[in-house]
Amino acid sequence: MRIDILTVVPELLDSPFSHSILKRAKERDLLQVYVHNLRKWAINKHGQVDDYQYGGGAGMVMMCEPIASAIDELQEDGTFDEIIYVTPDAKQFNQKTANQLSLKEKILIICGHYKGIDQRIRDQYVTMEISIGDYVLSGGELAAAVIVDAVGRLLPGVLNDETSALFDSFQDNLLAPPVYTRPEVWRGKQVPDVLLCGDPKRIDDWRYEEAVRNTREKRPGLLDPDNA
Ligand code: ADE
Repeated sequence: MRIDILTVVPELLDSPFSHSILKRAKERDLLQVYVHNLRKWAINKHGQVDDYQYGGGAGMVMMCEPIASAIDELQEDGTFDEIIYVTPDAKQFNQKTANQLSLKEKILIICGHYKGIDQRIRDQYVTMEISIGDYVLSGGELAAAVIVDAVGRLLPGVLNDETSALFDSFQDNLLAPPVYTRPEVWRGKQVPDVLLCGDPKRIDDWRYEEAVRNTREKRPGLLDPDNA
């Protein structure tokens, strides 16, 4: 899978893809991430990519031309399956969307800054808008990093234990059950007996019950069939 990211602050994305699981994904050539500085397509030699908003009001708006030129150039060697704009005024990202995106070959993520991007780019180019939560970040870069991480780890061959993503929280609209590691007794607190019983069926049943309990307690909305 190839993910291109368009940003005015490429430095913000130097580190997130260079460690741990995403690093491995890149080394195994399962994921390629290309970060592009939008100023390469600026409208003048001052690197201008934004301007005042029509109608007045504080804050700049990212202009159409630099973004359109960037997308057109990046699509010269193949169109994007999805052109995503990350913005707080969009539908919220979740595991289902991560699963869907992990099946794509080539996606572009546009990071907004200031007041966001000109609506005409959203109308003409953007195929999907994603918010990562009901709060406003200073730019879309961290949101893009979240999406790349959530999608990248789902690509076949990225996680060592191929099955482990299947048991993540949210894969079946349930939060994950609790987990324990050694020692068996820590400061007087004992690991649940069932995890030591050696019977995989009993352990699976317990994990399922705990996942349901956890979900009912912390995120009851996930158990609502309309969420499925
Ligand atoms: N840009 C600024 N805030 C954001 C958010 N919550 N989600 C996605 N992109 C953003």
